[in-house]
Amino acid sequence: MSDTYRAIRLERFAPSFREGADIVTLPITAPGPGEIRVRNLWCGINGIFDTQIARNAVDYVSVAVPTFTGVEALGIVEAIGTGVSGFAVGDAAATVRFRGGYREANTGPAEDFAKVPFASRECLALASTGVSALVALEHIGAVQDGETVAISAAAGGLGHLLVQLAKLRGCHVIAVCGGPVKAAFMRSLGADRVIDYKAENVGSVLAAEYPRGLDVAIDTVSGSIFDAFLANMARHGRLVVGGAAQDLEGKPEIVTGPRIVHAIYYKGVSVRGFMNGLLTEHWPAAREKLFQLHESGRIAITFDAVEFVGLEGVYDGIDRLLSGQSMGKVVVRIAQDDGIGGVNDE
Ligand SMILES: NC(=O)c1ccc[n+]([C@@H]2O[C@H](COP(=O)([O-])OP(=O)(O)OC[C@H]3O[C@@H](n4cnc5c(N)ncnc54)[C@H](OP(=O)(O)O)[C@@H]3O)[C@@H](O)[C@H]2O)c1
Repeated sequence: MSDTYRAIRLERFAPSFREGADIVTLPITAPGPGEIRVRNLWCGINGIFDTQIARNAVDYVSVAVPTFTGVEALGIVEAIGTGVSGFAVGDAAATVRFRGGYREANTGPAEDFAKVPFASRECLALASTGVSALVALEHIGAVQDGETVAISAAAGGLGHLLVQLAKLRGCHVIAVCGGPVKAAFMRSLGADRVIDYKAENVGSVLAAEYPRGLDVAIDTVSGSIFDAFLANMARHGRLVVGGAAQDLEGKPEIVTGPRIVHAIYYKGVSVRGFMNGLLTEHWPAAREKLFQLHESGRIAITFDAVEFVGLEGVYDGIDRLLSGQSMGKVVVRIAQDDGIGGVNDE
């Protein structure tokens, strides 16, 4: 076994992640008390967040360079420090902590990792994006069975899981996405109304077809899609803001218009922020529920058709996600299983 590993470190702020981040080689360290070491097999790509980090444009994370990068990864436990319970060498473990994603090995506090059933990319997606989707819909959106739910970037990693989770609650799902291929994907997941925003005006469709309005809307794009959702909320509707892909520069668009007071007050609408990292108390139960839903075939994970391999693949994966062409979750296979432990991969 090598006594070094590689990780992607942001060395300088730059317009793109590729220009700012380098692959560095580091010594493997033994886990200290309370720590474990995981050999990573898969990581998930968060291209929008990564780009905003590279541009030093994330309001809620104070980053000094150099800094390690990436959020979610999954691998095999290969060493355990003293005082750790709940992990054994050979277990599959996932982490969803900034700086823990884009690396071949990760030594850190055991509580930063969750034991997962298999060392598969499905378990990675469920433990990271799946948890985000479930918590956003259930805890922030406070969805009720049968409600009308609109989702933006619906064909993406987060979005396609939101669509399925809302359908499982018997909701009427409106999926907003860009282009006919993504629209067909949304229909295949059971979305009741697909709005291809490149072909139809989201606000006009909602106003014409949903006069009662949206009970829950989950937006990660911002801009005119946020405006269209806000203008078309139902009484007591909940508009969940889970991202702002359109504000990649970290410089929110300055708009002039009526204050949102009138859009929310008379109908009792609430606009709610969703930040998964602030909701860790919900993660264990959410993971458990998602693994059950997946095992019983009630939700399926779609991975983007383009495959990425090795840490070098992270850069290409980010470009792919930013291209707006990806569908489903974008992941990178960091390494093949090297035979440690009882891996059941896919
Ligand atoms: N708040 C949280 O805790 C949390 C957790 C997880 C993810 N998120 C956010 O949720 C969003 C979805 O994440 P994801 O990883 O699953 O990504 P994704 O949805 O798989 O990919 C991004 C999609 O967003 C749409 N998009 C709209 N404007 C874009 C732009 N300017 N640049 C690139 N894409 C744009 C594109 O789809 P269409 O053209 O079809 O719209 C694109 O395919 C991201 O904004 C992410 O930051 C937030």
